[in-house]
Amino acid sequence: MPLLIDTDTGSDDAVALLLAVKDGDVRAVTTVAGNVPLETATRNALITLDLAGHAAVPVHPGCDRPLTRPPSTAQHVHGLDGMGDTGLPDPARGPADGHAVDVLLSLPRRHPGELTLVTLGPLTNLAAALLRDRELLTRFRHVYCMAGAADLHGNVTPTAEFNVWADPEAARVVLRAATPGQVTWIGWDVSRRYAVMTPDDQRRLEALGTPLAAFAHRINRTVADWARDVTGLPGYDLPDPVAMAVALHPELVLDREHAHVDVAVGDETRGQLVIDRRRAAPPPNLTLVRRVDEQGFKRLLLDACAHVPLP
Ligand code: BDR
Ligand code: CA
Repeated sequence: MPLLIDTDTGSDDAVALLLAVKDGDVRAVTTVAGNVPLETATRNALITLDLAGHAAVPVHPGCDRPLTRPPSTAQHVHGLDGMGDTGLPDPARGPADGHAVDVLLSLPRRHPGELTLVTLGPLTNLAAALLRDRELLTRFRHVYCMAGAADLHGNVTPTAEFNVWADPEAARVVLRAATPGQVTWIGWDVSRRYAVMTPDDQRRLEALGTPLAAFAHRINRTVADWARDVTGLPGYDLPDPVAMAVALHPELVLDREHAHVDVAVGDETRGQLVIDRRRAAPPPNLTLVRRVDEQGFKRLLLDACAHVPLP
């Protein structure tokens, strides 16, 4: 499956990239400020692709701040370096020429209806592209976003999920251009229920003994600490990998909802999804994934990490 991936590469984005290169055909990666500042996100995407044996995939830096707000990172979750503060060496190559927004605009025009776009960070790059081409979403085969919390249990505020909270105006631009046949969101609720790496899962991952498994395990160590502090339970989430798995293998979806969704941008409710479930609601603009095959997802994850790239 030809993929274009937009990411604020932190530790779970990196694991999603491992899934993408294993089962997809990644044509380009674009980066955006989110978990970490833009330059760090770009560095992490390069490190991950190179380690996975895909040093030919270009990485294009994009927006270094939300559309209208100052940037906010999640370095208290993913580490200062976004990769669990594991001291990874610099990548052997640099970013590719061309701004991410230009790539988001030009690649689907060159390959109309072929590319699947997966966004794993704040929606700033996609929104900036949409503001220049209102038909952009129709040029993709489908657009999958790790975004929102359809059950309104957030991870930044009680009701808001990070990618939407970080740039709610961008999320609104995307939602106002979306139709359910074109755009699917996989939210924090899905991750919380079906993509938590329990201590057993973590042991299985480590036991693979491959470089990619060790990498995936180590870079998530600050996320594991954060999740334990916040929930009181062992086990950390992999929201971006489960979104990527759904894009690559839509048969993993066991329940979905088509709804009219907007996002709150006011101070008190910033980033909260506004899902209209009234009988007289406007027509749906979005598909929300609500349940996935947890064991199927975890099998894919282990498969991707068991893979040993050719030198
Ligand atoms: C999202 O925010 C980031 O912390 C993760 O990488 C994921 O994209 C989860 O809310
Ligand atoms: Ca992310």
